[in-house]
Amino acid sequence: MIAVRKRSAGQEPIVMVTAYDTPFARIADDAGVDVILVGDSVADNVLGFEDTLSVSVSDMAHHTAAVARAHPSALIVADMPWMSYHTDVRDALMNAATLVHAGAQAVKLEGGMKRLPVIEAILDAEIPVMGHLGLTPQSLHAMGGMKVQARSIAQARDLERDAAALANAGCFALVLECVPDVVAGRVTNTIDIPTIGIGAGPLCDGQVLVLHDLLGLSSRPVAKFVRRYADVASVAREALRAYAKDVRSGDYPSDNETYHASSELARATKSDEPKHAS
Ligand code: KIV
Repeated sequence: MIAVRKRSAGQEPIVMVTAYDTPFARIADDAGVDVILVGDSVADNVLGFEDTLSVSVSDMAHHTAAVARAHPSALIVADMPWMSYHTDVRDALMNAATLVHAGAQAVKLEGGMKRLPVIEAILDAEIPVMGHLGLTPQSLHAMGGMKVQARSIAQARDLERDAAALANAGCFALVLECVPDVVAGRVTNTIDIPTIGIGAGPLCDGQVLVLHDLLGLSSRPVAKFVRRYADVASVAREALRAYAKDVRSGDYPSDNETYHASSELARATKSDEPKHAS
């Protein structure tokens, strides 16, 4: 159970990673991650958008369903996209339900105290909620860009108040994105739900990274906090170059990679063989 995974209680750090489709959800689950986040970062990592503002509830449901078809042991958390919980509480509730119907076991949404009515309604419908504070990419324009947050004492105190409010409301975990390590450490020590950091230093109760960043699949420059564990894009590019070369040279497919007919069918077919255009 993720909600009790506090390092202060002697628990192991929580491992969370994003995934947006069945094969990678399977791979993440085989690797033993605790939580798979179907992040709205599907927008910029998979769908070719500049930021996360362009994905809809139906996009998120589509990708959540693909992850759920991997039947992972890891908890599936789906992001509520921008404008799916900003209009009114009933809309938010129905949108959270759509993600649960698609296979999510919990939803994540961005923001502090001003999101409490929505969070309370979703919790009241028995849907677990993960909070998200610090750099909240859906507020990109309001924040004036993708910047480290809570750098001043006043902002750090606001973040602490928001974190306490989300924990008291009943969120089961809290993502802290791009905040100074001491701020993340203080929040982690003062709330009784686990914090999961991304660019928030080592003092959180767990860590999350975007799959495409850690596997080296994203083409954009990565942030300081990203550790690249593989260069999958290079491996894939090399494999595809080799395939193209083999097709062009006639080396692929070989005899072993070809289905052969019975001799009777081969004889009958050979005489009707069409001539290749030159
Ligand atoms: O969508 C996402 O990938 C996220 C992580 C950055 C936590 O919300």
